[in-house]
Amino acid sequence: MEMMRVPRIMHNTSVKFCMTGQTVGFVPTMGALHEGHISLVRRSKQENDVTVVSIFVNPTQFGPSEDFERYPRDIEGDTEKLKKEEVDIIFVPEISSIYPEGFLTNVKVKKISEKLCGAFRPGHFSGVATVVTKLLNIVKPTRAYFGLKDFQQYVIIRKLVKDLNMEVEIVGCPIVREQDGLAMSSRNAYLDKSQREAAPVVNRCLTEASELIKSGIINVYYIKEFMHEKLLKEPAVSVIDYAGVYDPDTLDELSEIKGDTLIAVAVRIGETRLIDNMLVESRENPDPDSGNLKNKVSKKKEI
Ligand code: PAJ
Repeated sequence: MEMMRVPRIMHNTSVKFCMTGQTVGFVPTMGALHEGHISLVRRSKQENDVTVVSIFVNPTQFGPSEDFERYPRDIEGDTEKLKKEEVDIIFVPEISSIYPEGFLTNVKVKKISEKLCGAFRPGHFSGVATVVTKLLNIVKPTRAYFGLKDFQQYVIIRKLVKDLNMEVEIVGCPIVREQDGLAMSSRNAYLDKSQREAAPVVNRCLTEASELIKSGIINVYYIKEFMHEKLLKEPAVSVIDYAGVYDPDTLDELSEIKGDTLIAVAVRIGETRLIDNMLVESRENPDPDSGNLKNKVSKKKEI
């Protein structure tokens, strides 16, 4: 496994792979790697000749009062994990090589960036869109892998790649969970013991809401109310940013359940913000070729 720090060297290496007909899979990360990240790496290894993983804690996607400084960093542990997975290249750029002095450009995907998490984290998704555009331009992968844990991020990246005519296939990968259902996240490390015990309420809330929908309930106000009640019953949940039922393509809040449905939650447990979601397949629309977003994401079961 080779470590690269300089964007130009990363770019030239990747272009050489492409010129010799090899496919390049790319997994962008901010490090502090867990099994969720590793699932993307394995998928890339399965589907490509070469796998590149980037580790870059991107300052522009953190708000001024967010956790950029204390975001977990473990480059040695991450390197070991990626070596074990037989990753070909890890790309670990310096902040100054991604954002050199005089950097002025900002990529913004309108509308869908303002929904859900975007409403609570102003500027977050333009930070993500900008760095992902840069990383894709540097690495020039055949395919890039994103987790559905960050569903909104996945939708935004798909849109920017389409809108900017970028020649890369965006692959959405299933959410990897702890045994008790908590979606794996680097931020779970912030939870103390009692908060960690309380955190699976988020997944339970989604599971039960999805069961209500599958049982035929189409009243979104009922589902939303159910979700809020469930979350508020857990004293460790200090704030609900959102919990409800959304269109998986536009991320608009639904007024009625018809077709595929995204149920999504963002809460704070203490100071730690946790997000999770589930896609509930339509009972009327099982056609795998119907062309909507739901059908484009991985069909693999959640682990
Ligand atoms: P990070 O939070 O490190 O996540 C890197 C990738 O791992 C993302 O695509 C994310 O959705 C995926 N991931 C995280 N937890 C997962 C889980 N439990 N199951 C499946 N996939 C999971 O997302 C980012 O970094 C950044 O915003 C980035 C895209 C790298 C841009 O800076």
